[in-house]
Amino acid sequence: MRKNSIRVMGIESSCDETSVSVVEKKGNSFNVLSNIVKSQTDIHKLYGGVVPELAARAHSDVIHNLIQMALKQAQVSFRGINAIAATAGPGLLGGLLVGVVAGKTLAHFLKKPFIAINHLEGHALSIKLERDISYPYLLLLVSGGHTEFTIIKNFNSYQRLGTTIDDALGEAFDKTARMLNLGYPGGPQIESYAKKGNKDRFILPMPLINEKTSHFSFAGLKSAVAKIVNEHRCTEKFKRDMSASFQKTINKIIYTKTKNAISEYKKILKKNKDIKIVVAGGVAANKSIRQTLKQLEEEIDCEFLFPSIKYCTDNGAMIALAGIERFERKKFNKLDFKPRPRWPLDKKAKFLKGKRIIEG
Ligand code: KG4
Ligand code: ZN
Repeated sequence: MRKNSIRVMGIESSCDETSVSVVEKKGNSFNVLSNIVKSQTDIHKLYGGVVPELAARAHSDVIHNLIQMALKQAQVSFRGINAIAATAGPGLLGGLLVGVVAGKTLAHFLKKPFIAINHLEGHALSIKLERDISYPYLLLLVSGGHTEFTIIKNFNSYQRLGTTIDDALGEAFDKTARMLNLGYPGGPQIESYAKKGNKDRFILPMPLINEKTSHFSFAGLKSAVAKIVNEHRCTEKFKRDMSASFQKTINKIIYTKTKNAISEYKKILKKNKDIKIVVAGGVAANKSIRQTLKQLEEEIDCEFLFPSIKYCTDNGAMIALAGIERFERKKFNKLDFKPRPRWPLDKKAKFLKGKRIIEG
């Protein structure tokens, strides 16, 4: 192992991607030596969504191969690794168990530290894989399981501003796509159908839009789509127009809520300049959403940063990176650490799923 460099293996298995990566930190820069990702889309698309039991089995089928592949591609042996980090939550328990047990077993036999990583911390820090960024910054995380604004004040110091009270944004895309028979995952399909449709054909509701908070709700929007789908024949033209109307509605919601979140961020941090917003998670791949957010840069003095798509979607590299940050601070975990299906980044944040919010 070279001196003044740290190498950590990161294992990710919280949802429907199994991923193993080796990341090295040398001086102040991170190098992704390997990042092997095996997606389970082919399995889950038959059901239109992730089936937890099938996900867990599929992780356990491939995890050992991915560990070997990650070492081989990184051209390192286990001796060259300082610690093993694994996602320990939040996520689907069966999948988390596979990654955590693999990580603990390696750590035990190799006599190296085991580090339990919060998946959301991985997303929050993933931008550092590609660029040097100083704290604080605002995170907008939009994926199949999460939709939230969180202030990344410093390492291990996180304050959640807004979240969804029902569905995650990726879930709203996937459910709408399912109603339109567009296949799974639905986000990319809706995005491409939307390009050819009439965005003004259907007027859809924007729940919580007039509340001056950065909380989201997508359940009412989903029900409105279901009602219109029931009243129409599902022709190609209908699919295109509905996709375009849905995308336009989502853009408006994201635009308004991000503006609200930036105002909250400025107020809390008493900071008006150098506002950076990192947008991560699978939905951040949506170009129409990216363009909408970029428009905000012209209105407010702020900068949006998007990690590359491979680091936006679930990946082991962001877990290894969070592992390095913890390794440097000697934040190790015992081998009896239990996976946590629910594990908020901000411990003080209220759990709002299913709650009606009346504020502002
Ligand atoms: O981060 P991710 O890969 O997995 C987790 O959920 O953690 O995100 C997957 C989600 C799915 O709901 C998928 O439909 C959505 O991201 N997604 C998109 C696009 N690409 C992926 N949503 C909208 N537009 C896209 N281009
Ligand atoms: Zn994720």
